[in-house]
Amino acid sequence: MTAKNKAFITTAIDYTNAQIHVGQAYEKILADCFARFQRLKKGKENVFFTTGTDEHGTTNEKAAKKEGISTSEFVTQISLKDKTQIDSLNISYDRFIRTTDEDHIKTASEFFKKSFDNGDIYKASYEGYYCEGCEAYKTLTELNENGQCPLHTTREIQKLEEENYFFKWSKYTDFLRELVSSKTFVVPEGKRKEMLSFIESGINDIPVTRPKFKLDWGITSPIDDNQVIYVWFDALINYITSGFPLGFWDEDTEIVHFVGKDIARWHVLLWPAMLKSAGYRVPDSVCVHGFLNLNGEKISKSKGNVIYPTEIVEKFGTDAVRYYFLRYGPIVEDSDISETHLKDIYNGELANGLGNTVARVAKLAENSGFEFEKVDTVFSQVIKDFRTDQALSGIWARLTELDKHINENAPWALEDRVKLKEVLTYEVNEIRKIAPNLEPFIPETAEKIRSQFGQEKIKSEKPLFPRIN
Ligand code: ME8
Ligand code: MG
Repeated sequence: MTAKNKAFITTAIDYTNAQIHVGQAYEKILADCFARFQRLKKGKENVFFTTGTDEHGTTNEKAAKKEGISTSEFVTQISLKDKTQIDSLNISYDRFIRTTDEDHIKTASEFFKKSFDNGDIYKASYEGYYCEGCEAYKTLTELNENGQCPLHTTREIQKLEEENYFFKWSKYTDFLRELVSSKTFVVPEGKRKEMLSFIESGINDIPVTRPKFKLDWGITSPIDDNQVIYVWFDALINYITSGFPLGFWDEDTEIVHFVGKDIARWHVLLWPAMLKSAGYRVPDSVCVHGFLNLNGEKISKSKGNVIYPTEIVEKFGTDAVRYYFLRYGPIVEDSDISETHLKDIYNGELANGLGNTVARVAKLAENSGFEFEKVDTVFSQVIKDFRTDQALSGIWARLTELDKHINENAPWALEDRVKLKEVLTYEVNEIRKIAPNLEPFIPETAEKIRSQFGQEKIKSEKPLFPRIN
């Protein structure tokens, strides 16, 4: 495959039944890192990065009713709060899309109509289960021994019997098998295998509308105004709404969706079938991450064990939180976090590791009185298979080497000025080379180091990460 000139990067859009927590925010940091990485490689104007809120469906409507305000007012409040949370993490989205945006409502309706016109949507009646937490139809085999959704044990499963419209998902079985057989389509490999076995277990048609008398908070179906479009069908189309009109859904664009493991199935299997049905190309990759746990339990709104990004950003700063998640977050396997661990990492790897090494070199350079000829350094980092954790450990290994170089050469004790200049030039240039590679991960810190070391005369500055006790 020849490299594409443009990139379209997306995150899942969050339900607006409650403000987003750090588990959901992890995904935004991960996708942001990748979007920044792509901007460095392809140029800013060639990359489009979106996030946003998924505002229709039953849980949003129920949460609003509980507050006693209109659904539209309620979801607007949550969407604004989500934006505040996301902004606290310096997420560089180009669009924050809401599924209640005018252009999305129009696009979703047109998309649905295309799929209908192509013969893929038909009227039938559904009898079965529905988990409101997942906003998904469930078969008996997907429920636990108590008849509950294993992901939403605090909610009661709904038994549905209703007339609605089905999407011919089963028709796309061979197409999906072929698509998912490409190793790059789903990352990591373990998740790709899961998706393949899901295909083998059988793909059945699913309802893609709900009757309005049961749920009227949704986009009216263009073929029957007594029905609203099913929330997943509606939500997935957000990627077309934001990407297509701006030219970020063409063949020259690398399209990458970042999602959590609970919603991989929708993105890997339903979304490509919908796209094929409506006549659009399919994405290049779906990057599936695990869950962030707190004390061994999945952080979730329904469990109530929630930490908000702003709470830890206030204590540790934006870049420290980004670093912590990009290095220790659930990129492949689920991972456990705690504030104690975050503090240890902050002091050990940021205050001490990065901060101290930069400060030592700056101080030595300043004391020497030398001028250090400017050199051009560029971003050269590679992020393979979206492994931000491995990329960061590579950079930190380089910092450790540099620290060793300082200790071994002991520039503070060197009397030979020629030798001193040589040692310090190497060390200053190492920092200058490392700095741009930090940019996708910890952009503000990268910029501080760049401006401090961008001069010929290097001066000491305030510590990048003051120790926290
Ligand atoms: O699923 N750790 O929205 P959502 C890591 N609206 N990721 C987590 C997590 C945790 N503890 N909890 C949630 C939806 N997530 C739909 C998406 S996209 C067209 C529609 C992730 O608010 C979750 O896996 O329930 C998903 O990727 C994202 O947060 C939003 O979850
Ligand atoms: Mg969820």
